[in-house]
Amino acid sequence: MEYRNVQVLNHPLIRHKLTLLRNRNTTHKDFRELAEELAGLMTYEVCRGMHTRECRIETPLEPYGGQELENEVTIVPILRAGLVMAQGMLDMIPHAKVGHIGLFRDESTLQPVQYYCKLPDSTHESDVFVVDPMLATGGSASLAISLVKERQPRSISFCCIIAAPEGIAVLARDHPDVKVVTMEIDRQLNENGYILPGLGDAGDRIYGTK
Ligand code: PRP
Ligand code: URA
Repeated sequence: MEYRNVQVLNHPLIRHKLTLLRNRNTTHKDFRELAEELAGLMTYEVCRGMHTRECRIETPLEPYGGQELENEVTIVPILRAGLVMAQGMLDMIPHAKVGHIGLFRDESTLQPVQYYCKLPDSTHESDVFVVDPMLATGGSASLAISLVKERQPRSISFCCIIAAPEGIAVLARDHPDVKVVTMEIDRQLNENGYILPGLGDAGDRIYGTK
């Protein structure tokens, strides 16, 4: 099936690490490290369309006309699970700013409940990456993107590790202007809103809470 405005990162190293991540026997320590590494690999691809401007520098030998990123970059993890992805991206873009959006899914309604939002004052000048490993029903991602849009940034991309078709459809409906970048699109949600085959509860696997 073709999805509009969705990029699936099809790379052998990503498929290898994602398989390790999904494995139920992977420890919390390894899960955290893998999610961070995957986000680092993803950064290379999601930055491809960024604008650069010319800048003059001096090498030790002579003047040089180089390039620098034109816009500020802001990474916005959705708490909790997005934090490890944010770290992986920061390893690649250390000068990026970071906003935090705290949401959890109500277990019975599957609706997102907001408990925190702190975005940089300069978000309107930024290319923003909203990051969360899991796009399931899409409720959390859609709300987080709406909160970021209030600041009118230059661009928004939503970056995840696994996406369900249901979540992709919700973002296409609510935010057709936002590009979704994922490492794989899974089959479906189960009756509890978990992605199949998925990897279970990302937050719990990262932090060992269950
Ligand atoms: C998970 C995940 C997403 C959300 C996705 O977080 O990290 O934020 O669920 O589900 P949705 O697409 O149906 O909204 P969770 O609500 O479990 O919170 P946590 O990170 O604090 O564990
Ligand atoms: N949140 C998760 O962490 N995993 C899922 O499969 C769905 C939502």
